[in-house]
Amino acid sequence: MKLSRAPEVANPFIVFRSVESLAGLTRRAALLGAMTLPAGCTAMFPVRGTKLRAAARSSGRFFGAAVQAEQLRNDSLFRGVVAQQCDSITPELELKWGVIEPAPGRPVFAQMDQIAAFARTYGLRLHGHTLLWHQSVPGWASQSMVEAKDWNIVGRYFAPVMARYSDVIDWWDVVNEPIEATEDGSGDCLRRSVFYEAFGPDYIRSALETARAIAPRAKLLINDYGFEYSGKDEQFRRKGLLALVDALQRRAVPLDGIGLQAHLDLSREPLDQMGLATFLKEIADRGLLIQFTELDVREADRSLPIPLRDQAVAEAARALLDVVLDQPAVRGISTWGLSDRYSWIDVDPDGRRHIGRNRGLPLDVEMQPKPFWHALVEAFSGRPSTGARAAAVIFDQGQET
Ligand code: G3I
Repeated sequence: MKLSRAPEVANPFIVFRSVESLAGLTRRAALLGAMTLPAGCTAMFPVRGTKLRAAARSSGRFFGAAVQAEQLRNDSLFRGVVAQQCDSITPELELKWGVIEPAPGRPVFAQMDQIAAFARTYGLRLHGHTLLWHQSVPGWASQSMVEAKDWNIVGRYFAPVMARYSDVIDWWDVVNEPIEATEDGSGDCLRRSVFYEAFGPDYIRSALETARAIAPRAKLLINDYGFEYSGKDEQFRRKGLLALVDALQRRAVPLDGIGLQAHLDLSREPLDQMGLATFLKEIADRGLLIQFTELDVREADRSLPIPLRDQAVAEAARALLDVVLDQPAVRGISTWGLSDRYSWIDVDPDGRRHIGRNRGLPLDVEMQPKPFWHALVEAFSGRPSTGARAAAVIFDQGQET
């Protein structure tokens, strides 16, 4: 499928290549309202441009991206483009238990507060990623949960965190990545995490019920990965997730939706569009909302010329978007980062970061839109919202100017 550059989009961003032009824009940005970040920082807005969020809103949905507090603090151009392009932002790191509460009873909110302040300043929503994730549990909590098997250890964490951000967080990834398929798909396909070890499979019910009691108006999600391709693992994972949902719904456990991460991988076979469409319908038929929460594309061959690389990334994203945006239950798309300037895929296991090595996000390292960005705009714009879908928009988006 040939992706044409969206005709109406010239160059929606003016990239500030020199400090002088940044200084010039600093004065303009100061008129637009300074950030509530450290003194001397001001938002730098590209002075004109098409917005991903406007395209998403035209289809009755929202667009978001994962960010880090450090990126918002130190990169004024990135700040401005996030504020311009997004309806919603997701803390990539700062709202994880392992980051918030390294020592029992002494939560550290400073980094997350900066992201929340940014969201409040620019009228963005926050996606609550995430309350329970086996990869980010403080050591003391793992030990005491397994020893004491006391759910209050978890409840004492949920309560202050959910209350602190209740004005900006509409959606919570209450449980992240609970699914783990066995080789042959047998059993309950639930990950034997520290939560499972401490509380059994019922931890998922307890987490959802605790979250509902603390934040009755928030949308509660289970968020997971590995559903987009046609492998055996994907089939088992889809079956496992639906079985989990059915078990929870049989017991009237509060659950409003499913987050599908969608970390795409160009080394895989083509996307299983039919299987994915069926899976989304099975989730929607259970009365659940859907968000795509962490969309990005891991490249396979980075030796190709950049235009071919960007085209391959855009076509993979478009193959997903053409399926998911035909499903009314899909309420929003968030990418896992907005610019190749900051992608987790560029960080080696030893922590070394290779900026721009992977070109799997909508904007390049210069914050210029790539074919992926145009694929998002075209896919959203090609599916204008119907009355019903528009009415189901989850939070007040107002009218995009
Ligand atoms: O900032 C420190 C740096 O100072 C230090 O030198 C370095 C040493 O390794 O670590 C740096 O922090 C790392 C941080 O990313 C920032 O790069 C942490 O070690 C590393 O664990 C952390 O990884 C994040 C990971 O979740 C664990 O929280 C990734 O950025 C983030 O993209 C990833 O996101 C997950 C989602 O939450 C769930 N779905 C999968 C997704 C990708 O794994």
